[in-house]
Amino acid sequence: MLKRPLIIDCDPGIDDAECIMMVQGSGQFDIRGITAVHGNVPLSKTSANALFLSKLYGIDCPVYLGSEEAFIQRLSRAEYVHGNNGLIGFDYTLPEDAKFAEGHAWDFIWEEAVKQNGELEILAIGPLTNLAIAVMKYPQLPKLVKKLVIMGGAAGSGNFGVYSEYNIAQDPHACEIVLQAGFADFTMVDLNACHMVHLTKEEADALRTLPETNKFAALAKRMMKHEDSNRAKLAERGQGTFVSEDHYTCDPVAAAVLIDESIGQYVEKYAFCDCVGEMTTGQTVIDWLGFAPFKNVKIPVAMDREKFVKMYFDCVKSYDKEEC
Ligand code: RIB
Ligand code: CA
Repeated sequence: MLKRPLIIDCDPGIDDAECIMMVQGSGQFDIRGITAVHGNVPLSKTSANALFLSKLYGIDCPVYLGSEEAFIQRLSRAEYVHGNNGLIGFDYTLPEDAKFAEGHAWDFIWEEAVKQNGELEILAIGPLTNLAIAVMKYPQLPKLVKKLVIMGGAAGSGNFGVYSEYNIAQDPHACEIVLQAGFADFTMVDLNACHMVHLTKEEADALRTLPETNKFAALAKRMMKHEDSNRAKLAERGQGTFVSEDHYTCDPVAAAVLIDESIGQYVEKYAFCDCVGEMTTGQTVIDWLGFAPFKNVKIPVAMDREKFVKMYFDCVKSYDKEEC
């Protein structure tokens, strides 16, 4: 089976790490490159984490540096979620031969789109700055991209602003450029979609006991330990009862939609990103009633949780085979 040519644009981020694990573990993709962008932590760290993850998962592809900052918006990072190094303190040493590719992420995205002659797919799971720069510099890019899936946006309430999801809130102007750029097959896996699937506590517990020969095991155990300590801290503050012991995550849901679109049901709508509202900047405003004369994005309205759990662990198990 011909593998699907793919670029992953990311801001690792522990859920980015889960997502990239799934994409590579699915065995469906020829990952042509990974492009790092500012986001959860500064670019210096997201890029190092992307390079580490490519080596950890055995992805033989270049890793490119992207934008250090958003177009205009300057917001906080998310060390409070992902830890200071972006991978919740998971300690690693980059192999001697680990180097970033020469050139900018946005130029690579264009060059690869031309090379793949309309077959390139893009998975963007961080702020959309790199993709927006690519679109601004190469306006023909959308015509050469077969499928774009992003983790971003909030059809309902947000997780950064009242109405804004983190990735979009970090660079709303980039999101608006990408939304209006004319990508023909564009799926926005928003926060609502992410909250439709999760691993129950019992299912997630399997991540604590992965065999050490599994390449994802150490990172998975660190992730579960980090969640346990967060829950303990909240419990100390008397908020423990409101904290689920299930494992909710975001970027892997976009991976699942990319791997097998039949995992969800979608509506096609017109959406734009508010870049001016004092309280609503970063909100992905969706034309649910269909007033707009055209549609520019597919939004998941239902997701198959059981299918997600099976896909997640099938991808995890794919790292069992070789010795570490
Ligand atoms: O809102 C969740 C998104 O923001 C995820 O992509 C997470 O990694 C952060 O980038
Ligand atoms: Ca991310």
